[in-house]
Amino acid sequence: MVPDGTGIKKDNDRNADADTKHTRIAGRPMKAVVCRKYGPPEVLSLAELEKPAPGKGQVCVKIVATAVTASDCRVRAFRFPMWHPMILMFRLIIGVTGPRRPILGLVLAGEVESVGEDVTKFKPGDQVYGMTGADFGTYAEFKCLPENACLVKKPSFMSYEEAAAVTYGGLLAGYCLEKGEIHRRKKVLIYGASGAIGTAAVQLAKQTGAEVTGVCSTANLDLVESLGADMVIDYTREDRIDTGERYDFVFDAVGKDKSSKLKVSCRKALTRSGKYLSVDDGMLKSRTEDLHKINELMESGRFRAVIDRTYTLDQIVEAHCYVDTGRKRGNVVIDV
Ligand SMILES: NC(=O)c1ccc[n+]([C@@H]2O[C@H](COP(=O)([O-])OP(=O)(O)OC[C@H]3O[C@@H](n4cnc5c(N)ncnc54)[C@H](OP(=O)(O)O)[C@@H]3O)[C@@H](O)[C@H]2O)c1
Repeated sequence: MVPDGTGIKKDNDRNADADTKHTRIAGRPMKAVVCRKYGPPEVLSLAELEKPAPGKGQVCVKIVATAVTASDCRVRAFRFPMWHPMILMFRLIIGVTGPRRPILGLVLAGEVESVGEDVTKFKPGDQVYGMTGADFGTYAEFKCLPENACLVKKPSFMSYEEAAAVTYGGLLAGYCLEKGEIHRRKKVLIYGASGAIGTAAVQLAKQTGAEVTGVCSTANLDLVESLGADMVIDYTREDRIDTGERYDFVFDAVGKDKSSKLKVSCRKALTRSGKYLSVDDGMLKSRTEDLHKINELMESGRFRAVIDRTYTLDQIVEAHCYVDTGRKRGNVVIDV
């Protein structure tokens, strides 16, 4: 799975590393997973790259845990719908034959190792977590990012693994629910309630006082119920919403690639002023305030991390194979 069986592929060609943030010499190498071309999980390999040093306004985080998200797999395989009007633009932006930023990974939880000039919010030793967004780069031992990135202090009651697990789903579900004006919705249906975004969406929607129905497959009914869903529907057994129930908000948390007869029916089960939103409708934003909210909710036991499996960095190919199945429950965490 990894090229030389040792798990480490030496990569001394600094100029070949398109990720300029990782080309600064800071005295020691770091372990990272690189993706030099688009393809199956096996295109990922472990490499030794130069440890980055924080620039002005940046913090350098020693990563303890990251996560393999559906977005990472999508970029690794360049799995974007060919009909998309922006497909050529995506390719030019993300990279023509492989990702311009060869270190994938969006989520990080770790300790601030050093800070650059003018950094005021963080200091070495702070435990932090967050998301890098289009900058990627978290399948590595170190990552430098602006102190104003989507990064917050990690409370001590939260483990690094939990922090890595709640970030992606928590941020993206938080953004989508707000876009769907969740505060005005009494009856909410979450289609795909057992994935990273779905498990977070169920828990966040419950906080608003909404009555929440979660849709998932048989094996995940108990999980979704345990997250607070008032009702669960099994899309492998039900083809339509035949209870006559109408929803103020239907959120498709798995996206346009995954469907069922029930999903089509959910779309129609809206009240007159109801709203339907797919996680694939437009670009999602990550906002620091949503992580602060997750800190509060977790502290009071109203939100929890859903971790399906944990792998190590040198098992990244296995982790991607698993996430590629499209059936993970919640989140897949990587111990760095
Ligand atoms: N537009 C954007 O900017 C943006 C950004 C980030 C993510 N996304 C998209 O958001 C989607 C969701 O991400 P995620 O990480 O939450 O996904 P995920 O964790 O990979 O989703 C896994 C879940 O999908 C469920 N599933 C599989 N087939 C299904 C079906 N036919 N109907 C209902 N559920 C099904 C599985 O549950 P069961 O086993 O119970 O079926 C599993 O729990 C991804 O497709 C991602 O690309 C979009």
